[in-house]
Amino acid sequence: MERVDLIIDTDPGADDVVALLLALASPQELNILALTTVAGNVRLDKTSRNARLAREWAGREDVPVYAGASRPLMRTPIYAEDIHGKEGLSGVSVYEPKAALAEGNAVAYLIDTLMSASPHSITIAMLGPQTNLALALMQQPAIIQGIKEVVIMGGAHFNGGNITPVAEFNLFADPHAAEVVLNSGMKLTYLSLDATHKILTSDERLKQIAALNNQASRLVGDILNDYIKADMEHYDIPGGPVHDAAVIAWLLKPQLFSGRAVNVVIDSREGPTFGQTIVDWHDRLKAPKNAFWVDSGDAQGFFNLLTERLGRLK
Ligand code: RIB
Ligand code: CA
Repeated sequence: MERVDLIIDTDPGADDVVALLLALASPQELNILALTTVAGNVRLDKTSRNARLAREWAGREDVPVYAGASRPLMRTPIYAEDIHGKEGLSGVSVYEPKAALAEGNAVAYLIDTLMSASPHSITIAMLGPQTNLALALMQQPAIIQGIKEVVIMGGAHFNGGNITPVAEFNLFADPHAAEVVLNSGMKLTYLSLDATHKILTSDERLKQIAALNNQASRLVGDILNDYIKADMEHYDIPGGPVHDAAVIAWLLKPQLFSGRAVNVVIDSREGPTFGQTIVDWHDRLKAPKNAFWVDSGDAQGFFNLLTERLGRLK
């Protein structure tokens, strides 16, 4: 595959950290220009610290971390401390990482970088609420010239929501931002709950990771063992999803996944469908296909890839 120039926008978050370790362990395929952080699972100061921790654990302090939006565009902020813990990363001890944040705000970084990039050269992976990219698009719509595609962890159709009966957390946390991105006309791919809820941990898959017996595998094991409890209990399922890591796996091995080009609409009206993604899976409306919707994935193939890449870290 051609090496991807990549910016990862993230709200670490347990599954974000697994995604970041997977990405940072894959320099041959992913030229990570920067991590940009946003408030989401927890407040911005903690998501930014956790992104710096993931960078340190991967031995990749060459990658700058820029802090971005501390709150959604319009709605009142919500967080997911009940799932990710007060520090946004339960199961492991967190501390102040050695390398500092980069100077400047993530939104300004996105604008400067995308405006000066070669045409359609940079891929953006969105692992949290899409506030940073939406702000950049609103402030400087011409940044589209530098964007190759946007790959998003977000949305739900067949699966139903994980924060309301119909809405997935990242879109529910800032549906107005998600609408700005959806209506931008860029090439968009959604790794929705429809896919991530088919890619679940299991005792064997966690043992496979633990058998690496390195720092990265111990961190991921401790993080996942804590993180998956809520979903396993809530859905009464034998394992938990690792949502954000599916975005990185898509970039590394898209053949692990399947989906189709569809028309997607996001509901940002206050009410029971706030943050819902309405996916015209059978093309009932013959509306323009504005996204590629991933609804399925090879779970064992995903964990084999994750394990192999974690094995490359210290
Ligand atoms: O719904 C799952 C998404 O919400 C993931 O990105 C997780 O980190 C949380 O942000
Ligand atoms: Ca996330």
